[in-house]
Amino acid sequence: MFVCLCHGVTDTTIESAIDDGAHTMQQLTKELKVGSQCGKCCTCVKKVLNNRLMQIAEVQPAVA
Ligand code: FES
Repeated sequence: MFVCLCHGVTDTTIESAIDDGAHTMQQLTKELKVGSQCGKCCTCVKKVLNNRLMQIAEVQPAVA
């Protein structure tokens, strides 16, 4: 699904960027330009970011 219409960025593309190390909104904006034009996608991008970071945290073993 398209998340950022201004730059034609999908949720899958955002998730791939997160998997490659972009773990903040600033990093995603720098890499994909999401939120850099009209800004209407910021809320949705943050949801995708938070969901993906939670998924990553769940698969990593707990540090004792
Ligand atoms: S929809 Fe993402 S900057 Fe406009």
